[in-house]
Amino acid sequence: METVETYLRKHESRFIDELCEYVRFPSVSAQPKHRQDLANCADWLVKHCQQIGLDTERVPTDGNPVILARTPRRRHKNRPHFLIYGHYDVQPPEPFELWTYSPFEPTRDGNVIYGRGISDNKGQHFAHLKAVEAYLKTDTELPCDLTFLIEGEEEVGSRHLTQFLKTHRSRLKGDALIISDNAIPGLKHPALTYGLRGVAALNVQLNGPARDLHSGIYGGSVDNPAMVLCQMLGQLRSKNGRINIPNFYREVAPLTRYEREQLSNVPFDERHYKKFLGVPELFGEKGYSPVEQRSVRPTLEINGLTSGYQGEGSKTIIPSSASAKLTFRLVPNQKPKAIMDLVKNHLKHLCPPTVRLSVEYGHGGEPYIVSPQKPLAKAALSALKQAYGYDPILMREGGSIPIVNEFKKVLNVDTFLLGLALPDDNPHSPNERFHLDAFKKGMRLSAGLWPELASV
Ligand code: BES
Ligand code: MN
Repeated sequence: METVETYLRKHESRFIDELCEYVRFPSVSAQPKHRQDLANCADWLVKHCQQIGLDTERVPTDGNPVILARTPRRRHKNRPHFLIYGHYDVQPPEPFELWTYSPFEPTRDGNVIYGRGISDNKGQHFAHLKAVEAYLKTDTELPCDLTFLIEGEEEVGSRHLTQFLKTHRSRLKGDALIISDNAIPGLKHPALTYGLRGVAALNVQLNGPARDLHSGIYGGSVDNPAMVLCQMLGQLRSKNGRINIPNFYREVAPLTRYEREQLSNVPFDERHYKKFLGVPELFGEKGYSPVEQRSVRPTLEINGLTSGYQGEGSKTIIPSSASAKLTFRLVPNQKPKAIMDLVKNHLKHLCPPTVRLSVEYGHGGEPYIVSPQKPLAKAALSALKQAYGYDPILMREGGSIPIVNEFKKVLNVDTFLLGLALPDDNPHSPNERFHLDAFKKGMRLSAGLWPELASV
């Protein structure tokens, strides 16, 4: 009889073709014009899950549909049930001109495939789907029940998923949630990720004169909203990388010695990192290593800054308004809403009477941490070791997956992150890509994971 492993090997090139088909949908959740593409992508995924042999449902929400796909239930009731989360929505591809190949025409170049969303996150949950397909098609008994939950709004804050979890609570009771939506340091450095940062997003707008003004006629007598915004934002972070907002650090849980020790095992090559990112020097909070700065310390980023004339040549005006999109990354035990309140109050305090300030709250997500000492974590580590052939490390990640906390709160389910992507996959950037070797390893990891987890 055919084994899972021989099946995976035999059908590898078909899997790659299918993944490319999946990536061809421009399922950009941030852009309303792609709403239909998200629906089409969801339809494709439903069909695909059905072909694999999963009991599949396309569940409408007030936003994009959620796909629930579960392995056919076996008779014995008490076997474990694990959940696998993924998202079929992707980040906007812009700026198009920086892509070597068109973002929604997945293109293989050597051992990588380029395409928006191929590593974040289509390729990663697809690896799990293919491993499960191998079990079902070879009639190999899975040691557990599995439910895939694949949503279409992760990149815009998973607004409708908390309600979804509440509504479908009984079907989503499980022994753990497995997520592959992050990277490992390398194929020789597999990792269990046991923490994520949270996020708090805000839009800040300053309104000055009723219209753009001639800067020669009026300049000097009225304030400039762009200048004021720069001055205000400039005060939010100090030179040593600390965030200058009263009480911002109040809830931050201190790093333990054990964690710092674990994080010091994460391979990091400063020269290569700088070169890959194209920066002349690194910047980060004093007293912490770059690995710590990017994963376990809170930050503030300006994501977008808009004001005045952006066209060719020059235009001598005082812009009537200026605005900025900000996000904070949060660490345990900071709360998004409380942080937004602190920020808003401080901005009010910094704002001069020469402009009008408005602050709009965006999406938020709490930071997450789970003990890597739990038996299921140990089981995951042993599956990593078997699949990659190297000792896995423990790490926390800087990105956010807001729904992870909701799973804990609503369903009391722990999440373990088993990233399949690699550090040079360019998620959210032009030329996003996925290494075929990472895809193949991912399928092996998934195939070996379920017996390990189920044996706990
Ligand atoms: N896959 C990422 C999250 C991630 C990246 C986790 C790297 C760990 C390491 C996810 O798709 C993502 O980008 N999430 C957004 C969430 C936000 C829109 C609420 C993020 O982190 O910016
Ligand atoms: Mn993402």
